[in-house]
Amino acid sequence: VWLIGARGSVATTTIAGAAAVHNELAPPTGLVTALPVFAPIPLPDLSRLVFGGHDLTSTPLPKRAEALAAAGVLPAALLGVVTDALEAADADIRAGVDATSDEPPMAAIERIQTDLAAFVAAHDLDGLVVINCATTEAPLRPDPVHDDLDALQGTLAAGRPVLPPSSVYAYAALDAGWPFVDFTPSTGARLPALAALAVARRVPHAGRDGKTGETLVKAALAAMFADRNLAVRSWSGTNLLGGGDGASLAAPGPAASKLRSKRVALDAILGSRIEGDVHIGHVAHLGEWKTAWDLITFEGFLGVGMRLQFTWEGADSALAAPLVLDLARLMLAAHHAGQLGAVRPLAFFFKDPEPGAEHRLDRQWAALVAWATGLSRR
Ligand SMILES: NC(=O)c1ccc[n+]([C@@H]2O[C@H](COP(=O)([O-])OP(=O)(O)OC[C@H]3O[C@@H](n4cnc5c(N)ncnc54)[C@H](O)[C@@H]3O)[C@@H](O)[C@H]2O)c1
Repeated sequence: VWLIGARGSVATTTIAGAAAVHNELAPPTGLVTALPVFAPIPLPDLSRLVFGGHDLTSTPLPKRAEALAAAGVLPAALLGVVTDALEAADADIRAGVDATSDEPPMAAIERIQTDLAAFVAAHDLDGLVVINCATTEAPLRPDPVHDDLDALQGTLAAGRPVLPPSSVYAYAALDAGWPFVDFTPSTGARLPALAALAVARRVPHAGRDGKTGETLVKAALAAMFADRNLAVRSWSGTNLLGGGDGASLAAPGPAASKLRSKRVALDAILGSRIEGDVHIGHVAHLGEWKTAWDLITFEGFLGVGMRLQFTWEGADSALAAPLVLDLARLMLAAHHAGQLGAVRPLAFFFKDPEPGAEHRLDRQWAALVAWATGLSRR
């Protein structure tokens, strides 16, 4: 499992959590693929997963884990027992693609592919999945070369940097024949040219932006209002978070990507753009925790106005990490089963799944189980 942003909170919790669960030091709570319905499906066991990745920071994984333990995200008692796993993964972290450097795009792609190939060879791996867990990027300015694979390849070969780092990683992985998952709202593989590349190389991809907290609740609640024919009139949310994610989402560009992806499910389920916005604020003292408040106003029979409010208090990385492990296991199995292109049944895991995908949580769940069960029959 190759993690982009391998020394971030989500990645560190993923690597530490995999070691803790497979050594039976912690139960697999939060891991969807640990549910009995997935038992017949040939998913790689957590004990068989090996981790490496790219990052821009050099803070070693054990140090990041200590900080997460101090913040209450990782149980301090686990630290000692997962240190070996963290050190092993840390030795497989390479320098990432820096948007501010002048490295030519093709050189960056080739460098990433060399890193992936070396990782596969060093560990004699049966498969590889690349998962983007790096800092959220600003939305990409549209360019016609993003729509056509030949045009994109020509432009990259000419040295024009038309892809953000998330898409450089996606290009490198797909072109080398490895599945790509975007756990962030960044562009990643969400470009027509990269979708064409995935089909040409016969590899699957999935994204984007893990659905871990407020949006998870929205996807369940919005379906409830719709099925009861209750008229939602407004839905407003305020998200306050600390950590590296909170700090980066304080900037308008990354915030725009996140706000867009948080909006998608509601519009799709309720059928129209209803009043209300989502606000994101950075509160450093919250550390790795997030608080979300939502206020929903709706009308019932005879137009009677009512309200629902909820508060979500989450340890974001503890919610995200098991989903990263689920996505790794499912994508490795999907690749092994010969799936290619966008894997729509993984919409259950994402805030902003492929256009046209189902958004209601209960239907997403049913689609996921039906698809995964099909993998076991191949
Ligand atoms: N925690 C959640 O519940 C959740 C849910 C959905 C999405 N996400 C997304 O996951 C991502 C990671 O969140 P986090 O809390 O771990 O953030 P974080 O700030 O702790 O970690 C991000 C890591 O990415 C690295 N990075 C930045 N640019 C990079 C690049 N070009 N190449 C390689 N590495 C790079 C940073 O150095 C850092 O180590 C964010 O984009 C966040 O929006 C998180």
